Amino acid sequence: MITFRCFRNDDPPRLAGIWRTANLGPGAMQPMTVTHLEAGVFSKPYFDREGLMLAFDDDQAVGFAHAAFAPNTDRDALDTSTGTTLLVVVEPHEHEADIAAGLISRCEDYLRRRGARTILGGGSAEMAGFYLGLYGGALIPGILDSSAAMQRAFLASGYEAADRIAVLRRPLAGFRPPVNRLQLAIRRASELRVIDEPVRRTWWEAATTTGIALRRYELRGRQEGPEGTGALLGSASFWDMQPLASAWGVPAAGLMNVTIEGPRRRQGLASYLVAEALHDLAAEGVTLVETQVSEANAAATSLFGKLGFQAADHGTVFRKP
Ligand SMILES: CC(C)(COP(=O)(O)OP(=O)(O)OC[C@H]1O[C@@H](n2cnc3c(N)ncnc32)[C@H](O)[C@@H]1OP(=O)(O)O)[C@@H](O)C(=O)NCCC(=O)NCCS
Repeated sequence: MITFRCFRNDDPPRLAGIWRTANLGPGAMQPMTVTHLEAGVFSKPYFDREGLMLAFDDDQAVGFAHAAFAPNTDRDALDTSTGTTLLVVVEPHEHEADIAAGLISRCEDYLRRRGARTILGGGSAEMAGFYLGLYGGALIPGILDSSAAMQRAFLASGYEAADRIAVLRRPLAGFRPPVNRLQLAIRRASELRVIDEPVRRTWWEAATTTGIALRRYELRGRQEGPEGTGALLGSASFWDMQPLASAWGVPAAGLMNVTIEGPRRRQGLASYLVAEALHDLAAEGVTLVETQVSEANAAATSLFGKLGFQAADHGTVFRKP
């Protein structure tokens, strides 16, 4: 008989075992260990055992699903009005579909109890509070197409696709930044700063990126700005995608975000900033860069296409109507 209960302190070895046996595809870190789960899940200050459900066939753990919330707009606390079931991981089993459905419905109950009015399936750049470096890559791209069983589970539970996220990769072998008049003009007028382990700007950024090696590239104007420094034109943040990159066997960097200040957009700054960053990372031995972009973000999709990124996989963020 299949039974369900929420997480207990002696469950981590069970979760790691389920993860290793379930067919999660190449977007999942393998082999999963308790130490990796501790770093990417249980150590987070917002971890709530009631949001992590396990399924048992008699006394054998056969699956788990994890429900979580997004940060609020100030990113200084959780906003429980929107919640998601990040992952549904079930071992091959004759009742696999029913087990997944049971886990999803218990996650929904938990999210509603905590006040969620919008219920999603899968993580995203916004909802990357758990599993960074364990599932998905540079960020959490919803549920990957290569995790087909998990996608089927959400569809069977009445979810619809709300967003499609492209997982974009660019090998760095032989990479050279484009040289043209615009790029040379930007080089003359700006200064590129490299900041390792930058001060995290918000509680959410600190909570989600503590323990990972973060590097920020900042593009600043050469004129003196109000604080005695060149005015910030834009920034791009990369992280060393561990432990996933080690499992792939390549030194890989994940581009978490690139932002150009509003009035400075469409002047070639992002192309310059990202290309210079890729060049710098390549010089340090990074051979692959990954990023993830919602297909609704035309500007970013076009930017990364021009820089030679190609889609390696796609993910879907689901929504319960
Ligand atoms: C995406 C973003 C970083 C682009 O910065 P940018 O400095 O304007 O980009 P560039 O001027 O270097 O443009 C490079 C290419 O991107 C494309 N692009 C940029 N803005 C675009 C827009 N609004 N619509 C369509 N294509 C756009 C174009 O193909 C452009 O090349 P072109 O000017 O030769 O046609 C900027 O729009 C931004 O900060 N957006 C908000 C944050 C974000 O979405 N980041 C990406 C995901 S993390």
